[in-house]
Amino acid sequence: MSFDLSVIPNKNIVLAVTGGIAAYKSAILVRRLKDAGFNVRVVMTQGAQAFITPLTFQALSGNPVHTELLNPEAEAGMGHIELARWADLLLVAPASCDTLAKFAAGLADDLLSTLYLATKSPVWVAPAMNQQMWAAKATQRNLNTLVEDGVHVIMPDAGSQACGDVGLGRMPEPEDLTRQVTQYFHKAQRAIAEKFGMLAGKHVVVTAGPTREAIDPVRYISNHSTGKMGFSLAAACYAAGAKVTLIAGPVSLDTPNGVRRINVSSAVQMLDISMQMLDEGCDIFIATAAVADYRVAEVAEHKIKKSGDELNVSLIKNPDIVATIAQQQKRPFMVGFAAETRNVEEYAAGKLVAKKLDMIACNDVSRPDIGFASDENAMIVFFAEQYQMQKRDLEKASKQEIAQQLVEAIHDALHNEIEPV
Ligand code: C5P
Repeated sequence: MSFDLSVIPNKNIVLAVTGGIAAYKSAILVRRLKDAGFNVRVVMTQGAQAFITPLTFQALSGNPVHTELLNPEAEAGMGHIELARWADLLLVAPASCDTLAKFAAGLADDLLSTLYLATKSPVWVAPAMNQQMWAAKATQRNLNTLVEDGVHVIMPDAGSQACGDVGLGRMPEPEDLTRQVTQYFHKAQRAIAEKFGMLAGKHVVVTAGPTREAIDPVRYISNHSTGKMGFSLAAACYAAGAKVTLIAGPVSLDTPNGVRRINVSSAVQMLDISMQMLDEGCDIFIATAAVADYRVAEVAEHKIKKSGDELNVSLIKNPDIVATIAQQQKRPFMVGFAAETRNVEEYAAGKLVAKKLDMIACNDVSRPDIGFASDENAMIVFFAEQYQMQKRDLEKASKQEIAQQLVEAIHDALHNEIEPV
């Protein structure tokens, strides 16, 4: 199962192009679908070839274009039955009146109509035609039949048409179609993860990024944390079927797909929201945030003016978020992180016990090639004694891969816990 939901891996789309002026948009559609990570094979009807050449689609899709049903040479390559099996989705765009009629009637007199009958994959049609033809009773009757047969109809857009009319019948833009297709596969993938994923049914809360402790209305104390590790973990937990809440300090990262994000600034705010999450019901708490250890005792109401050679700011200790949550009666499975510059393993193992964590992942931030601002990380994971699990070495890899391995470690620990006597 993939952990990066931004790209759908290895899904096959058969794009069928039929005769209509909107066929020119299908060329761009192939590009967009390929950009989104899909494998694309194009089928063209005779009518489509009057508007655009197979060569265009061959170049864009990187695959031979299928045009003939009864051509022995073409059938020797990938025949219509193989093509029907290859498809994870048959997308007909644009779908002409004629094609809709053929599908509704169950004809099988060319490659596309045969493919339609031969495939088990979902079939989507994006009708595009003159507005009068769209409104015609026969077209609407055929569309109703197709919907009853389980075909998904993508409604045409309204607007000015190539023929000069204004009305319903324009094929949606390629970007819009690609978004709809991508969402469909995301949803399908999500449904599987929610049922069978490693963290199915769990609510995971992740803290990430730095905190910002105000000195006055314009200045603050903070650190260099980028939040990358926490964001990767949130994405990996979501992909493993969990419901994920990401409590993020100020970072400039996009929210991972499907993850609920709550932005905070200070450590006190981060603790506040974390406690609220416990009330909501949290099964796993992952603390990747680089929380400022201290905050300014008295935040100045107005901007502090320059005066004298020295300025003293008095600091007080911030709450330890992960340790506070770990002390609660109904505590989740607690995962902490430790970034150390020396005695890495010893300090990490100490923190595991001191903060009453279930698992701790530590890394050596004195290494210039991993850690804070880097896209890669290497970690050692320790588990609390009751799990009777060996420490795990996670070798240098991308933060996404490390995140995936950490999800596996959490899953394994949850299944290994010895019931307390
Ligand atoms: O004590 P230290 O800061 O090294 O511990 C790191 C771990 O504790 C991390 O998991 C971090 O997110 C968490 N932490 C916290 N609240 C603090 C300080 C650290 O949750 N105030």
